[in-house]
Amino acid sequence: MKSPPEKIVVATANRHKAAELAAMLALPGLEFVPLSDFPAAGPVEEDGLTLEENALKKARSAAAATGLRALADDTGLEVEALGGAPGVYSARYAGEGSSYADNNAKLLRALEGVPFEARKAAFRCVIALCSPDGASVTAEGRVAGRILEAPRGADGFGYDPLFLPDGGRASFAELSAEEKNSISHRRAAVRNILPALEKIADEQV
Ligand code: IMP
Repeated sequence: MKSPPEKIVVATANRHKAAELAAMLALPGLEFVPLSDFPAAGPVEEDGLTLEENALKKARSAAAATGLRALADDTGLEVEALGGAPGVYSARYAGEGSSYADNNAKLLRALEGVPFEARKAAFRCVIALCSPDGASVTAEGRVAGRILEAPRGADGFGYDPLFLPDGGRASFAELSAEEKNSISHRRAAVRNILPALEKIADEQV
């Protein structure tokens, strides 16, 4: 007899990331459930010094709180002319509690006068998958591009209106969700964590 699909918690409180991940994660044998299904799982302080540390912290905490395997991502925008900033501090670049608009405005100010060729940047995403017994695996995805001189587009979230992927003409916020999801850092990280997920799915059959 076939076992029921194994539930894997997607540990993010960010609805944009949750939607993107949900669109990318479909595997027979696995059922991805949002962390919001587990109200007792409290928030996690993202105080790690690396994306990997934060992704692991979020996934470990969700696995411990739910007794299920959990997957979490941590993402940063790394801008070459700023020595890799905002990086792991991308969510609070303009200060604790800052909005996407505040962060984007600070980024534009920091790059004032920097010519287009020197506005190189990359989104880097680390996904961690943790079991309640503490076992973990991580995978990374990256997409390179440039920071625009003004926001473009109304879709996406975060720094998307300022990010022009290499080889493209549209900012991430000008792309449809499907287009962004097909080339994004998050997609690349999901692709790289897939073997670990497939192994779990195979164990269910
Ligand atoms: P975190 O992974 O939730 O810590 O994300 C850090 C910050 O990076 C978010 O607050 C967003 O501003 C930004 N971010 C994460 N993923 C994306 C993305 O796919 N596009 C644009 N900005 C993003």
